[in-house]
Amino acid sequence: MVSRAFSCLISLISYSILETAAAVVSTGQTVLIGEIPYYIPPTPVSQLLGHARIHTPDGSDLIPFTFFSTASSKFSQNDLTSFSKDFTASDDVWQTSFLEGVYVSSPSPKASIDVFPGQNVKLVLGSSTAPLSKNIPNGPYFVDPENGNIHEAWRLYDDTNGACLYGTIPDGNGSFKQLPARANGDATQGIAVPSRLYFTTSTRQPLAGKRIAVKDIFDVAGLKTSCGNRAFYDLYPAKNKTAPAIQRLIDGGAIIVCKTFPSQFANGESATDDWVDYHAPYNPRGDGYQDGSSSSTGSGVAVAAYDWLDYAIGSDTGGSMRGPAAANGVYGNRPSHGSVSLDDVMPLSTELDTAGVFARDAKSWKVVGDWWYKDYKQFDKFPSKIIFSIDGFGTSFLTNPPKSGTSGAIFNDFITKLEGFLQTKRTELNVSDLWQRTSPLISQGQNPPASLATLLNTTYADLITLDQIALVADPFITDHKAAKNGRAPFIDPAPLRRWAYGRSLANGTQQKIDAVTNKTLYMDWYQQEVLGSNNETCSDAILLYPQSSGVTNYRNQYINPPSVPFGYGLSRASVHAEVPDMVLPLGEIPYNSTITGTTEYVPVSISVVAQKTCDLMLFSLFDKLAEAGILKEVKTGSTLFL
Ligand SMILES: *[C@@H]1O[C@H](CO)[C@@H](O)[C@H](O)[C@H]1NC(C)=O
Ligand SMILES: *[C@@H]1O[C@H](CO)[C@@H](O)[C@H](O)[C@H]1NC(C)=O
Ligand SMILES: *[C@@H]1O[C@H](CO)[C@@H](O)[C@H](O)[C@H]1NC(C)=O
Ligand SMILES: *[C@@H]1O[C@H](CO)[C@@H](O)[C@H](O)[C@H]1NC(C)=O
Ligand SMILES: *[C@@H]1O[C@H](CO)[C@@H](O)[C@H](O)[C@H]1NC(C)=O
Ligand SMILES: *[C@@H]1O[C@H](CO)[C@@H](O)[C@H](O)[C@H]1NC(C)=O
Ligand SMILES: *[C@@H]1O[C@H](CO)[C@@H](O)[C@H](O)[C@H]1NC(C)=O
Ligand SMILES: *[C@@H]1O[C@H](CO)[C@@H](O)[C@H](O)[C@H]1NC(C)=O
Repeated sequence: MVSRAFSCLISLISYSILETAAAVVSTGQTVLIGEIPYYIPPTPVSQLLGHARIHTPDGSDLIPFTFFSTASSKFSQNDLTSFSKDFTASDDVWQTSFLEGVYVSSPSPKASIDVFPGQNVKLVLGSSTAPLSKNIPNGPYFVDPENGNIHEAWRLYDDTNGACLYGTIPDGNGSFKQLPARANGDATQGIAVPSRLYFTTSTRQPLAGKRIAVKDIFDVAGLKTSCGNRAFYDLYPAKNKTAPAIQRLIDGGAIIVCKTFPSQFANGESATDDWVDYHAPYNPRGDGYQDGSSSSTGSGVAVAAYDWLDYAIGSDTGGSMRGPAAANGVYGNRPSHGSVSLDDVMPLSTELDTAGVFARDAKSWKVVGDWWYKDYKQFDKFPSKIIFSIDGFGTSFLTNPPKSGTSGAIFNDFITKLEGFLQTKRTELNVSDLWQRTSPLISQGQNPPASLATLLNTTYADLITLDQIALVADPFITDHKAAKNGRAPFIDPAPLRRWAYGRSLANGTQQKIDAVTNKTLYMDWYQQEVLGSNNETCSDAILLYPQSSGVTNYRNQYINPPSVPFGYGLSRASVHAEVPDMVLPLGEIPYNSTITGTTEYVPVSISVVAQKTCDLMLFSLFDKLAEAGILKEVKTGSTLFL
């Protein structure tokens, strides 16, 4: 039985003595069944028609019950047992306590319900005796015996790793609101998830009921966006429009369950020093005190930590998906530039920003990828050219075979299996060296050509700082001063240092033109000379480079003050070339933790790059590699596979 004692804690009540009393608005209630906390939304989803008050022996306020729909005219104790087994296997919200009431919906008016109130079952209802105002799907519900109102059951979980700024729930009219509830008495956010039994996936809604967390730089109607800055959160009202990228996921059936912490304005921040305004979410891998990387940190952490969450959305400008995917040991992608609309998403650089998704296995990753990036073409044939980037790996594995037990051995093992799967052999390539030999600058009369380290040294820093100053920083600071008596908002050290660089440029307009020119020169060369196109396999080649090599990066170290991101490395290649770059967790490396004093493990991940717009080819390849046992689902918690 469920008692309402808890409910007043989460009801928002306004009361005025002198004027007409304000309306008391319920925001739902929280209850415990056994030890498990639930959130019950205020709006009923159906009602028992012609309802006569249900008398409960103990006068309880709400009765948990299970709705079963059957095509048969008979429903017996055996059916109850078999349904219950299925429900337990497929849903974390339903539990046997919801058998306190049993509602059997059958098309037959004379259905026989051979389930008797007994030890567990206290209430038995059927569609012939107690018709509903509105049909509902199978699953756990609560009925209010006073009025017959039927409410959904949402299970409450603790945000134990501090990934979420707040939990969210749909408000019934297409927008969302902050979840006004916590799980039972824990000092963390509560996140509510609906029963999986309410949803059935289809080709029109392949994401039906999938629980998704969203980086808090994407606008969602009804919710405030923080961009990782407290003053920004405070200053602006809730958004009245959902970003089209997120709307597409909602249209596919996804349920947004929380907004996750980004590093501030999606800039690179190291845990913990740089995270001044909000605390860095906790990477669950290893000892739990490794940096979760930046900037889609909360989203990467959430997928690595919470088995009740299916996906999390982030963005990647210069590594903001790939870094967290690698550090937290999950699948995560930087897609082709322009793959989804970034309207109503906070910009870092319009030339470089992209939106990606984290998942724990390649098969479900493909489901969300195929839906989200559906403007791209599907491919079921794969490239027969594998490029092993020796500048990425720092060595040739053919002449310098990696020792077993190292990250090199893990990379080499994967690449060898990939060779077998694609029935080809790797080509070892030094990308920087290829540039020196084939750069278009040579035909422009520059011989030897400027190195990539020179050509692209400031390009990234120029593009992100100039765009963000104009599109985010200046309007925000102006609005803040206007609203707060001339006071400037607090800005974390990392974005402050970067913006200072952008502001220091003698002529930002000219600098941006130059940066775009260099980027475009590189992009055209990289797409054509390194990757190539193929009308059967989309990309002619796939290129591999290491994303994380199993080294520790403790979050309790004092670090250097933030610097401006100059320089060129292979992780910048996909950024400037606008091509997809997808991170695969492959293994883990043991280390002696200075925190726990025991052996712990950090993830090893590889990046796979292909031609622009070939994202769905890669999703499909990884799905096939998973079927072949070459890629594996990662677990949540401190280890990926062990
Ligand atoms: C619909 O959404 C708006 C905010 O977008 C909110 O103010 C309003 O109360 C909502 N209406 C209902 C019926 O939930
Ligand atoms: C939505 O919000 C924007 C920005 O605050 C505002 O300009 C616009 O008028 C609002 N639209 C509606 C329909 O309220
Ligand atoms: C790749 O080529 C560049 C430029 O020629 C050179 O400086 C670098 O040492 C090479 N890297 C490796 C791993 O051989
Ligand atoms: C990159 O640019 C910064 C800032 O202008 C400069 O200090 C640094 O020396 C440059 N590095 C290279 C390799 O050109
Ligand atoms: C563009 O590339 C040239 C080398 O060709 C380099 O000297 C210049 O600093 C680069 N400018 C920017 C803004 O990236
Ligand atoms: C800055 O560069 C732009 C583009 O070349 C030019 O139009 C403008 O006059 C320059 N401004 C200054 C102050 O030199
Ligand atoms: C692929 O492209 C080549 C060369 O452009 C063309 O000859 C061939 O017909 C194309 N194949 C397919 C299947 O479209
Ligand atoms: C951990 O420390 C022990 C004792 O110093 C050492 O033998 C072992 O190799 C270390 N393990 C790792 C993974 O570094």
